[in-house]
Amino acid sequence: MEPVKAPLDLSVSLGPLALANPVLTASGTFGYAAEFASLVALDRLGGVVVKGISLAPRPGNPPPRVVETPCGMLNAIGLENVGVKRFISDKMPFLRTCGCRVIVNILGDSIDEYGMLARELSGVPGIDGLEVNISCPNVKKGGVAFGTVPEMAAAVTRTVKQATGLPVIVKLSPNVSDIVAMARAVAEAGADAISLINTLIGMAIDARTRRPKLANVIGGLSGPAIKPVALRMVWQVASAVPIPVIGIGGIGTAEDAIEFLLAGATAIEVGTANFYNPAATCQIIAGIENYLRQQGETSVRAIVGSLRLGTSL
Ligand SMILES: Cc1cc2nc3c(=O)[nH]c(=O)nc-3n(C[C@H](O)[C@H](O)[C@H](O)COP(=O)(O)O)c2cc1C
Repeated sequence: MEPVKAPLDLSVSLGPLALANPVLTASGTFGYAAEFASLVALDRLGGVVVKGISLAPRPGNPPPRVVETPCGMLNAIGLENVGVKRFISDKMPFLRTCGCRVIVNILGDSIDEYGMLARELSGVPGIDGLEVNISCPNVKKGGVAFGTVPEMAAAVTRTVKQATGLPVIVKLSPNVSDIVAMARAVAEAGADAISLINTLIGMAIDARTRRPKLANVIGGLSGPAIKPVALRMVWQVASAVPIPVIGIGGIGTAEDAIEFLLAGATAIEVGTANFYNPAATCQIIAGIENYLRQQGETSVRAIVGSLRLGTSL
């Protein structure tokens, strides 16, 4: 006879936002979810984080916009998106039927734009939270990224929090010298949760033609190559702030996801892996369940931040 399996509790909370399980999709790698509906049981996911939305539609950068690198990829999509109006009219009707949490990633050129986006999305049925992408240049302040100056990141966070009652997740850029200072600034400014990391800035050159491989010359590096950097930053941030942390960066298997949970992440997002294995998210959920059973745990929350210091050698 099969042994009776103890019921497992995979639920987690990102401040006011409760998730059925800790597995989310990463912005820009899962479209507006409809693109993956025939490949992934969306109602099994903790939630989807949709492609970054700006006030006006953006065409993005000219091609080539994506290039494969050892253990990863570089992209310079340029935050192409349909704009907030068309997102609400054309994309939200499907997203409301997903059966999982819907988190909208937002981006702006100015602090005001972040505030306007948050206000516009607030009253829309079916949106469960906002993820604020601060890895964007502040056009009014000479192009310095919001995500690299703690005071600017705090100002964006405060503005978005004032503009909405939705849970606010602030997504950090890894392209800084002190990630903990950034995390503390947004936590003190009222963020409900922090997600990290966005892509690392990189470059690829074709030696034969002596040209850059991306039309934009530089782009964002993602995939397994960035996992150790992401894991280190998640551990540092989770140890330093009192709010929940979402781990992102090179997660493609349950083991990857579990490493982030052990480092202190309450939830994780799967990005580049969706491109080479669309089943990754559901496989990760099943793999976390197996791990909990093997470890004799009944709740995923029991392993969050349970890293044992000292090596296993
Ligand atoms: C093609 C592509 C598009 C992306 N677009 C966005 C975006 O619109 N907003 C955002 O915050 N992050 C965006 N990202 C970053 C991912 O959400 C994620 O933070 C990053 O890729 C690291 O995770 P990964 O290694 O699992 O892909 C994008 C990444 C890729 C590869």
